[in-house]
Amino acid sequence: MSYEETLHRLSEASVHQHFDAFLDIDWDHPDFAIDPTDERWILPEADVLGCHPWYRSLPREEQIRVGLYRRANICKVGLQFEQVLISGLMSYAFGLPNGQAEFRYCTHEATEECHHTQMFQEFVNRSGQDVRGGSTFFRAVAPLLPLAARIVPVGFFWGVLAGEEPIDHMQKAVLRGGEGMHPLLQRIMQIHVAEEARHIGFAHTYLVEHASRLSRRERALLSVAVPVVMRWLCDEILVPSKRARRDMGIPDEVMKELYWDSPEAQKTLRDLFADVRMLAEETGLMNRVSRRVWRLRGIDGRAARYRSEPSSAAA
Ligand SMILES: [Fe+2]
Ligand SMILES: [Fe+2]
Repeated sequence: MSYEETLHRLSEASVHQHFDAFLDIDWDHPDFAIDPTDERWILPEADVLGCHPWYRSLPREEQIRVGLYRRANICKVGLQFEQVLISGLMSYAFGLPNGQAEFRYCTHEATEECHHTQMFQEFVNRSGQDVRGGSTFFRAVAPLLPLAARIVPVGFFWGVLAGEEPIDHMQKAVLRGGEGMHPLLQRIMQIHVAEEARHIGFAHTYLVEHASRLSRRERALLSVAVPVVMRWLCDEILVPSKRARRDMGIPDEVMKELYWDSPEAQKTLRDLFADVRMLAEETGLMNRVSRRVWRLRGIDGRAARYRSEPSSAAA
């Protein structure tokens, strides 16, 4: 299938399967009510924090409180990333000449992301948790990031993957172990996972297509910038900010172990990027120097053989 055909197919899929934050979620249904004392907010074993002995030893009420806060904060970080993405997509589309296939798909994607930001913000509002989302640094530089979409679109779409891959990975893991999950959160995640599959598909397709048009110099620069940006954005998404840490009361030693000192944490981190490593190989971004950078940033390892290969097989 040609690049244009793939984009057309993705666009058609967006027309026929999409969600509206307020039509497709029955926010006022009694089953969807958020009760801050509900045991279903306790983090599952599939969650990095949820399986840590520190968390497991907390009193029940505290597990519930931390669990709800963590959910709300992840939603907030997620929606902040989506806001950056929407602005970036618009500034990218602004610069496109007539007749470009990317215009239509990028606009579909931005439409979907707008619904996601509404859906996540509604969850945050109803949770009653006053979360801030990303770190102070991330929130300070966020308005500048969309400029990259206009100036270095290939770099920008790598950044998009850095945000979408870890979130998608996490949400799928949580949905798989979905027993006893709050139905509102389950609905939100199902909607998100369904639409993200297309967004990730687009980013991959775009990067493969545009990698061949890079000059040698650009490719060399990008090959070392990618693992650095990947790791930075991954930390922004997955590691609770200083404020979130304080609000949840996570001790420093626990933070260290979780992000990413323990051997299990290091494996988790590497596993998150198996698909991305495959793409870096495919687009000629793996060379002697960049491999070292991937290793120094702790995200090296074998590339996945195909997209979404189970992590145990790719480790
Ligand atoms: Fe999204
Ligand atoms: Fe997305």
